[in-house]
Amino acid sequence: MKEQFAQQFAKRRDEVMQMMGGGVAIIPTSRESVRSRDVMYPFRASSDFYYLTHFNEPEAVAVLVPGREHGEFILFCRERDPEKEIWDGRRAGLEGACEFYGADDAFPITDIDEIVPGLLENREKVFYSMGSNDEFDSRLMTWVNEVRSKSRKGISAPTEILDLGHILHEMRLVKRCEEKALIHKACKISARAHKQAMKVCKPGMKEYEIEAEFQYIFRKKGSEFPAYPPIVATGENACVLHYVENRAELKDGDMLLIDAGCEIDGYAADISRSFPVNGKFSAEQRALYEVVLNAQQVAIDTIKPGVTWDVPHNAAVHVITEGLVEYGLLQGDVDELVGSAAYQRFYMHKTGHWLGLDVHDVGDYKVNDNWRELECGMIMTVEPGLYITAGSEGVDERWWNIGIRIEDDVAVTKNGHEVLSIDAPKQIDDIEHLMKG
Ligand code: GLY
Ligand code: MN
Ligand code: MN
Repeated sequence: MKEQFAQQFAKRRDEVMQMMGGGVAIIPTSRESVRSRDVMYPFRASSDFYYLTHFNEPEAVAVLVPGREHGEFILFCRERDPEKEIWDGRRAGLEGACEFYGADDAFPITDIDEIVPGLLENREKVFYSMGSNDEFDSRLMTWVNEVRSKSRKGISAPTEILDLGHILHEMRLVKRCEEKALIHKACKISARAHKQAMKVCKPGMKEYEIEAEFQYIFRKKGSEFPAYPPIVATGENACVLHYVENRAELKDGDMLLIDAGCEIDGYAADISRSFPVNGKFSAEQRALYEVVLNAQQVAIDTIKPGVTWDVPHNAAVHVITEGLVEYGLLQGDVDELVGSAAYQRFYMHKTGHWLGLDVHDVGDYKVNDNWRELECGMIMTVEPGLYITAGSEGVDERWWNIGIRIEDDVAVTKNGHEVLSIDAPKQIDDIEHLMKG
């Protein structure tokens, strides 16, 4: 089943343990899938847990104990239970945890309170991500206190609880080949869906009909979930950044902004495309689209190892501001307008974020208060946009309700970058050609 991947995950765990330099790491998965009056909603493991285990059942905790004689990777999980499995689905069980997921030891999750305190004895440090699960936080403290109570027997308890995220998120930030391949696959499927949306789009359809094309292709191609709720926003809705209602009718003459990507084996794609509902850019739509497209290309062109995180954003902001001045949406000197962030009226978000197991993936953007340098293996989005809300003061009506975002997923390579979402059309001629049918 999962044996083929076992080695990749074993390598990740080894690396974490080396960085821990002793101690014990405790990594719980997400809480049980949501159950509402007997309906079970799909479970998704927490990203940190999944990164180290590839295990996707609820009620599981991974414990890493470097140097433990009977094995360093312990998995607490549900036992096999034929009756429950008939209702709620198959379980790997303790044997499966070892055989398929590489656990050195597996114990029933129900025994965790008896076993973990013993694993903490005489260990100085516990690595754990405090603050995301109150109930588990207090359980950990109970275990530590239990060990403390044995001090008269000469047993020492951990004195430090360190944030596992510090180590793990640095690792997660630089993707391995197999991770990049999964993001690439998610991008290819998502790009295909964007292309299909362009093909079928016509005035009179509803936003949710376009969303359905994404849901269909994502599932058809084996994606478990959309990586985030798809945004299918037409006309004025395109100026609402997190619009997810997707119920309005597509109107002739309006723009359509779609931000949708799927998840493959936990890894996200995050792609936005914007195009006219009727397949033909108006003069105003074309003008602003070209500004955003140009800003995006200039930002992407800067990406290579050694460049700091802020460089693509600053490059995009400059081009956007020039465009806004050219078309009279801003007045004044471009450098001064950049300095005063005047563009934020129409471009109010950043140009990108890390991408991985989480859509807004982990990893610091600054190191020692300085913008971080890009490294081979990092994957990021580049997503400038322009949003001209109706009634914007001093803006001629012909620009109103144009919302544009162009978002691609870009991997930093040894000498430059690779656009993983390249299959989603974004040149005006390509879009118009595709939409002509
Ligand atoms: N889809 C969320 C984002 O673009 O950041
Ligand atoms: Mn994004
Ligand atoms: Mn997006």
